[in-house]
Amino acid sequence: MSLPPRTLSGMRPTGPLHLGHYFGAIKNWLKLQDEMPCFFFVADWHALTSDYANTKDIKEYVIEMTRDWLACGLDPERSVIFQQSLVLEHAELSLLLGMITPVSWLERNPTYKEQREEITNKDLSNLGFLSYPVLMASDILMYRPAWVPVGEDQLPHLELTREIARRFNNFYGDFFPEPQARLTPAARCPGLDGRKMSKSYGNSIFLSDDLADIAKKVRGMLTDKNRLRRSDPGNPKVCNLYPYHELLTDETTRAEICEGCVTASLGCVDCKKILINNLESFLTPIQERRKTLSSDYIRQVLKEGSASAREEAQRTMQGARKAMHLDFNY
Ligand code: TRP
Repeated sequence: MSLPPRTLSGMRPTGPLHLGHYFGAIKNWLKLQDEMPCFFFVADWHALTSDYANTKDIKEYVIEMTRDWLACGLDPERSVIFQQSLVLEHAELSLLLGMITPVSWLERNPTYKEQREEITNKDLSNLGFLSYPVLMASDILMYRPAWVPVGEDQLPHLELTREIARRFNNFYGDFFPEPQARLTPAARCPGLDGRKMSKSYGNSIFLSDDLADIAKKVRGMLTDKNRLRRSDPGNPKVCNLYPYHELLTDETTRAEICEGCVTASLGCVDCKKILINNLESFLTPIQERRKTLSSDYIRQVLKEGSASAREEAQRTMQGARKAMHLDFNY
């Protein structure tokens, strides 16, 4: 069975997107959307693997995140944009793949071990959290993509997906092609305080933030902490602000900024002004588009996208059931 190469990727609904999401994932998705057929989905069941106790925000987060996707340029006319929980086949495939997945594979997954150790404010001893990679394998294998764009933290999950596909094919005959990870080119987009940009750290610039608030956030950022006086030379390499220039400022201006910083001819206040301007030019069209996307429209997009994803999922499930001798026609 040979399919034209296609891409699938998903994101947990954590609410409105910030710059870290944009430069870490969405920018890459937009490029792939121009190159091949793509499936992009809201991984709402995945949100439950760790946040099962408090589910009341999921509905809103699904809509807000999808609104940002579309505002950034993901295009429901070209890509299948859908919601995991509206395609029940993901649950069926996850159950079947769960039958052939050794628990030891899941227990030795580095992401699992790390999160069990680091996340102490939630009880993660639930089965769903352990079997998260099985659900992720179903999300992926369902659409038989050639490529799965992910961040580095997801690589162990993708490797598990491939191992599960191989095991399935060994038992029941060749059926699932092994998907390849497509690493998002490393884009460093730290938070306002230099740590990883994350909603829970309160150090984010959201795509939908009011531009005046963004200017305020940028003005409050620490730059090179060794540059105490305007007349001290600075070092862009250790500056918190400079990574943003790498994402948003053209090369010529960047060269001028570096030169101005190390010779102290450019002060941090002016350097921030340049960035604020560039952030505004970058975000204005996204925010303009965002305003035109009503919640009803977003729900419609997810409904239609999920219906079309479901057709594909049903095709895959027919094949998978047949391979497992579970195709009962009575
Ligand atoms: N696990 C991914 C994350 O937390 C989200 C995800 C779920 C995903 N299923 C996927 C990503 C399938 C790519 C493909 O970011």
